[in-house]
Amino acid sequence: MADKTLVILISGRGSNMEAVLDARLPARVAAVLSNNPQARGLEIARVRGIATAVVDHRAFADRAGFEAALAAQVDRHRPELIALAGFTRILTPSFVERYDGRILNIHPSLLPAFPGLDTHRRALEAGVRIHGCTVHFVTPALDSGPIVVQAAVAVEAGDTEERLAARVLAQEHRIYPQAIRWYCEGRLHVGRDGSVTVGGARASPAALIAPPLEAD
Ligand code: GRF
Repeated sequence: MADKTLVILISGRGSNMEAVLDARLPARVAAVLSNNPQARGLEIARVRGIATAVVDHRAFADRAGFEAALAAQVDRHRPELIALAGFTRILTPSFVERYDGRILNIHPSLLPAFPGLDTHRRALEAGVRIHGCTVHFVTPALDSGPIVVQAAVAVEAGDTEERLAARVLAQEHRIYPQAIRWYCEGRLHVGRDGSVTVGGARASPAALIAPPLEAD
């Protein structure tokens, strides 16, 4: 099967982008684009010889102008998939619909819990015992597209936002490359009800229960 063409959109550090680049997927990362000229991930991509471009949202009078410029950059590469990896701009329905079913995002919570920002702080404040991350298809409504894969981590006594974020991030780096691999292999199917099935997937492991039951 021919490699799929992938464009990655970032705004910052780029650790998820790096995990995708490290994963040896059946995909060619044609470009890394950022709305933020200072995004650290841009340098990481450049060092690896990947084309980069900046579309600085602050240079545009409105969201429509920004997205038109972003779409022009994306379309130069004719990607089969766009992966948002810490891309912090909200995309309008018209941008999302242009790439219908071809945009994935990684979100640092177990959606539909904690959409939006500050997910780790909000999880700690809510007292949840299990937190995690989600890869989902992007649809016009924020953080609510079909869920592809999730990873759960136990919240530990005395957790800080930073410690919890680090454990979740380690799982993000596992599930995002896997989801992109499934996509590239043509194994993701989104049903009419919005539920995603993964063709040929293995059975799930045992449940994560936190705190553990006495018998475990
Ligand atoms: C990650 O936690 C991701 O889930 C969220 O933004 C963060 C980006 O981190 N959308 P990085 O830029 O991939 O290191």
